[in-house]
Amino acid sequence: MSGSRDGDVPEPVHAGVAAEVPGKEAAPDRRTPAERAAALRELIGYHNERYFVLDSPEIPDADYDALVRELRRIESEHPEVITPDSPTQHVGGAPEVQLFAPVRHRIPMMSLDNAFEQPELDAWADRLRRQLPDVDIETLDLSVEPKVDGVAMSLTYVDGRFVQAATRGDGVTGEDVTANVATIRVVPHELKTPAPHHLEVRGEVYMPTAEFAELNERAEAQGSKTFANPRNAGAGSLRQKDPSVTASRPLSFWAYQIGEIDGAVPEQRGGASSKRRGAAGGWPPGTQSAALALLEAAGLPVSPDARKVRGVSAAFARCRELEAHRHDLPYEIDGAVVKVDDLALHERLGATSRAPRWAIAFKFPPEDRTTRLLEIMVSIGRTGRATPFAVLDPVFVGGSTVHLATLHNEDQVRLKDVRPGDLVVVHKAGDVIPEVVGPVLGPDTGERAPPWTFPTECPACGSPLTRLPGESDTYCTNIDCPSQRVQRIVHFASRSGMDIEGLGEERVVQLVQAGMVADPADLYLLQAERLASLERMGAISSKNLVDAVESSKSRPLSRLLVALGIRHVGPTGARALARAFGSLGALRHADAGELAAVEGVGAVIADSVAEFFSVPQNVTVVDRLIALGVRTDEPGAAAVSGGPVPPGGGPEAPRTLAGKSVVVTGTLEGYSREEAEAAIVSRGGKSPGTVSKKTFAVVVGATPGSAKTHKAEELGVPVVDGSRFDELLESGQVPG
Ligand code: IVH
Repeated sequence: MSGSRDGDVPEPVHAGVAAEVPGKEAAPDRRTPAERAAALRELIGYHNERYFVLDSPEIPDADYDALVRELRRIESEHPEVITPDSPTQHVGGAPEVQLFAPVRHRIPMMSLDNAFEQPELDAWADRLRRQLPDVDIETLDLSVEPKVDGVAMSLTYVDGRFVQAATRGDGVTGEDVTANVATIRVVPHELKTPAPHHLEVRGEVYMPTAEFAELNERAEAQGSKTFANPRNAGAGSLRQKDPSVTASRPLSFWAYQIGEIDGAVPEQRGGASSKRRGAAGGWPPGTQSAALALLEAAGLPVSPDARKVRGVSAAFARCRELEAHRHDLPYEIDGAVVKVDDLALHERLGATSRAPRWAIAFKFPPEDRTTRLLEIMVSIGRTGRATPFAVLDPVFVGGSTVHLATLHNEDQVRLKDVRPGDLVVVHKAGDVIPEVVGPVLGPDTGERAPPWTFPTECPACGSPLTRLPGESDTYCTNIDCPSQRVQRIVHFASRSGMDIEGLGEERVVQLVQAGMVADPADLYLLQAERLASLERMGAISSKNLVDAVESSKSRPLSRLLVALGIRHVGPTGARALARAFGSLGALRHADAGELAAVEGVGAVIADSVAEFFSVPQNVTVVDRLIALGVRTDEPGAAAVSGGPVPPGGGPEAPRTLAGKSVVVTGTLEGYSREEAEAAIVSRGGKSPGTVSKKTFAVVVGATPGSAKTHKAEELGVPVVDGSRFDELLESGQVPG
């Protein structure tokens, strides 16, 4: 139906997990190849049913793929064990039980072969070279497209009118989901340009990531079932008997291929039959890139991230680029598809029994894997928050080996019902912290441990843990808790705080255990000679650390405010406060009302700041920091010692952007990201991280992420070139 269940089978990424049949302990396998193959077929059948019939997959695609791959390996080593009903013997690999009327595809919807590394892409190019000896493969045009992770769909238009939508099914027969697909806003009911009498368009129905997150948030708030990922949410939304349910789900569609074409284009009647490939520009298209352009002109959505490139090296570079930016895209992709652009060559290359030879999928490392949850523990953060986390059997996911994953809070553990000993799905996307999605409960799950309960005492200091009514978090309220102490100092020294190089968690633990520091102010009393007596600390590293601490004294007030770890005060709020008050002296004596009067500072931040400066221990640390020579003013703010500067900055910054919100993406010449934001804020504007209908303009610098630009275009928000940022600041108008 979609994703990998169509028979794309990647190499096992982590041998330990790939070899493990979910739900069973990995033990030395003494079964014959025929027995192993039969067991795998049974298991694959079980997961197919979960996925296709019950719409409730238990294991991530990568694990399912590993099962099919293992079966394929056994069958290739022992061809005598192949059975005609083996999932490896079908185009799609996965027979689908029909919930809707069956639709037979006149041209089968095939699968794609996979590449995971450059050599596999090169091997594909070698095959092209052998099959097309008269073609220069070095300069061959290729279309590189995002491999959207959704549900493959075939749309049929007759005389420009949408008449049918069918799922891929087993590749030969799919399901009629016309009524449901008709509710997808971006799928045109009438094409905008003349098209062949019968036109079949192939593409992917998907749920944009932001909309998926909102849908899940709403579901969670209502206490209803959430979806594990946008692909499952998309598939589940499509397989609804009642189209009004589908209509209520934020589905979208990208067209990526022309399926069947029949009949002349109205304007071209009497001319060339559309069964023959036409000249560039008209129907039928001669190239894949022209096909995409024709589909787009007809009003079908085509991904703006598809590119035509020359040669396999350029295609590989584009695949890597898409991989690097995969989380900037507003939709999930699990790879890139590289296609020969010239459609005449498609006919020459043909297909194997399951995949065309003119295309290959370059797959990215999976972001969901299953592994064993060994233990659930609780960590104490700098604010005393107790966060449960999972200790895992190490698993390779999202590009690195993961040992620990967050479980967020008590309610999340209860909702997910994960227990020590369970097989669990672990999700890790890019730089985001790894997360446990849920347990994998199958027919083979044996007896489980009892449900996990939150500890009543802090694991670091033994004080009671408390959860306030109406809050989801649990806290250790002992301000002297050693764990909080360490985390406060780590945060103080972190990059967004005082940025003290060489002072990570391990080093801080060492300093606290040696009794050299107990709070951030103590850092400024460290001496190189004493430090050098510590383990793994030579004379040079000691001097470097003391120098790094010394130079952190000159960080502006806004950084000091972040470093102090006041709840809810991040870099943006800290900058607004620092600019408004100018000095720590003015700020620390302001009451909540005065603090809340600062633009960009709400009641939550204001109360939190006022509360911070009312705690005697905090006041002592701040006084000592001042006495030890830490800077307490903000450059650019009007020098004041009393009340706040008028919100929005000093007299040198005219409030050209008052009330306007300007989003920056990419690098702007002459500005760091922080400086660009500060320049906007100092002119009375706001610089949030996301684009909305209310955004005044999006400024696009070098190497921007495409998500913000996409969103701006979608919402009609003006896009300003980075070179005109100064003009925007000066005039407060979008440069014409
Ligand atoms: S071309 C003959 N292009 O990836 C197959 N597929 O196994 C032609 N997919 O489920 C497919 N994005 O739905 C093609 N730009 C793209 C795609 C794409 C996603 C999916 C497709 C299928 C799987 C391929």
